Amino acid sequence: MVFDTLNLYHRSMEKENLMEETMSVNEIVSVGYAYENNMARIAAMEDEFSHTIDPILRMYNAAMNLTAARLNIIKDEFEFRGQRVPIHHIDTRLKSSKSILGKLEKKGMTLSLTEACNNIYDIAGIRCVCPYIKDVYLIRDRIISQDDVHIIEIKDYIASPKPNGYRSLHMIIRVPVYFMNKKQLVPVEIQIRTMAMDLWASLEHDIKYKSISTNMDSLDAMEIDIEDELLQAAELIYSAQQKLEILNSIIEK
Ligand code: GTP
Ligand code: MG
Repeated sequence: MVFDTLNLYHRSMEKENLMEETMSVNEIVSVGYAYENNMARIAAMEDEFSHTIDPILRMYNAAMNLTAARLNIIKDEFEFRGQRVPIHHIDTRLKSSKSILGKLEKKGMTLSLTEACNNIYDIAGIRCVCPYIKDVYLIRDRIISQDDVHIIEIKDYIASPKPNGYRSLHMIIRVPVYFMNKKQLVPVEIQIRTMAMDLWASLEHDIKYKSISTNMDSLDAMEIDIEDELLQAAELIYSAQQKLEILNSIIEK
């Protein structure tokens, strides 16, 4: 069993050939493909743009809901067995058309729907927040073991935190979504992290955003190095997490 999981994990680390399954936008958007595929032109006409991207966002929304359902099934199974539940909560979010466009621009890509579908993997996003670090890996392994899930990429920012202190496990997977006449493998980004990691990431996002947009001068005056303070907070929260983890492992032995 462990061997199987490891095998699957290694298989997953070999990046899949994305070209094999690239999405063809004209199969999803039925009319005026050549014209409607030009995102820049569509963006200039807000109404038409949101109308054009709508069927694509619906497809991602379907993939997101199907993935959230898979996680909820895992959660429910533990509840039903009367065991400690390894998932605290699940959040979902669908990237807006504006934000998809912004990401393509930032990456210097062509502003087309095809480019978006084949290069932006977090249009459908799921955050799975767990009590303990071991739960994060349990959820990762449960996803890997589902044989109709295609693993595109796994980034372990728990084993290797970002320099700013960010910790989380990121997975890009593709899940099958069935339409009237075809099956489409749709990418979904899953971020799995503990409640402690989620606390830090949410507040870091808020503090960083606010420090950039408003109070930089007063922070400078107080000689507060915001990035250093955030890193210190991340390490404090992580060491508290480790302490609680040890207590839990003694109790759950
Ligand atoms: P993308 O092209 O944006 O996907 O870049 P990437 O693949 O290098 O991003 P990565 O997988 O590292 O992170 C993607 C997501 O993780 C972000 O959109 C955030 O939601 C979250 N994230 C990554 N780093 C941080 C961070 O330092 N702080 C917070 N609060 N969230 C982060
Ligand atoms: Mg990413």
